[in-house]
Amino acid sequence: MKQIRDPLKELKSFHRDALKQLEMLEKALAAFRETGRVDEMRLSLEGFYFFVRKEMALHSKDEEEILFPLLENMDLGGIDVKDIVDEHEYLRASEEVLELLKGADRETKKQIESTVDEVIQTLREHIRKEDVFIIGGAARKLSREQLAGIAGKMNELRSGGNYGY
Ligand SMILES: [Fe+2]
Ligand SMILES: [Fe+2]
Repeated sequence: MKQIRDPLKELKSFHRDALKQLEMLEKALAAFRETGRVDEMRLSLEGFYFFVRKEMALHSKDEEEILFPLLENMDLGGIDVKDIVDEHEYLRASEEVLELLKGADRETKKQIESTVDEVIQTLREHIRKEDVFIIGGAARKLSREQLAGIAGKMNELRSGGNYGY
């Protein structure tokens, strides 16, 4: 696996990947609203949550275990890192929406639509806050040595090859 040298760039580039996933999910949601076809929605959601469980799990570990501890007690322009971590939890838990697809009657379809919509909005806003306040704040406030330390830990995390949940 490639060695990470610029940890903030790596985190941002993951955010771009996640936004692409969101775009796909948004299209799937629009199609579901129109056709109500449960099977296609299920496929899209399974793909999205596969991404969440694998790639995003590693990214969230980078953030929660490596980057965020260094930002504790820092003024990040009015956001609270605890809220950001809660959003990670929310996203993981939101996979339950797949359960709703099992017996999708009219009412349940509405519920699926609003849940998926909320997931998309929440994750998009989450990424925006992290890009601006977390990664922006880290770029301003952390030293070159601290950033090198983050890169080292991120590389270490990947060297085991055992991540995701
Ligand atoms: Fe995050
Ligand atoms: Fe992130």
